[in-house]
Amino acid sequence: MKFFIDTANLGEIKEAQELGVLDGVTTNPSLMAKEGITGEKNIINHYKAICEIVDGDVSAEVIATDFDGMIMEGEALAALHPQIVVKLPMIAEGIKACKYFSGKGIKTNVTLVFSSGQALLAAKAGAAYVSPFLGRLDDVSTDGLHLISEIKQVFDNYSFETQILSASVRHTMHVVNCAKIGSDVMTGPLSSIKGLLKHPLTDNGLAQFLADYNKGNN
Ligand code: G3P
Repeated sequence: MKFFIDTANLGEIKEAQELGVLDGVTTNPSLMAKEGITGEKNIINHYKAICEIVDGDVSAEVIATDFDGMIMEGEALAALHPQIVVKLPMIAEGIKACKYFSGKGIKTNVTLVFSSGQALLAAKAGAAYVSPFLGRLDDVSTDGLHLISEIKQVFDNYSFETQILSASVRHTMHVVNCAKIGSDVMTGPLSSIKGLLKHPLTDNGLAQFLADYNKGNN
């Protein structure tokens, strides 16, 4: 399973990249605003800075909600860097734009997906990635992981090439369960990646090994 980090924080992106397990980055307007990145020029420069840190795909979201606006913005974003994936909202205009971009060989990520029917539409329109938001479903007492399994079944039935990018991942158990289901990608905060390192038996075992080694050196 590919690991994407869901942040616009350059320090966190660098930290995940240095760990050696980062496959890409997802951002959205809220994550940009959280880092104080506002205004078209600053946002564009920030995408370029992210692309310089990571080797993989970097999702950059359009703001327009009409077809023409999405095409104009998406083409400009895609021209910024070969790693840019145009992120489109799961609305009718977004699906039309997805079809347009896939026809041109430009990768897209259809976001704000909350049902397998929406995922199916995005796959039929040629999306490179579809982003079901599992944490936000859990927030409203709906099983987000069930949606990931359902989309996996639908995509497997027809061998769609669209990758399932499990988004709104909040913690390590989301990551592990996405991997068990066979999600192609997960995107979550740095804590959801670094949290996978932790086990008290690892820490205790290492402390014991070092203590025993040092006994021999005294
Ligand atoms: O990748 C989608 C993500 O940015 C939403 O995450 O935690 O705000 O639901 P969250």
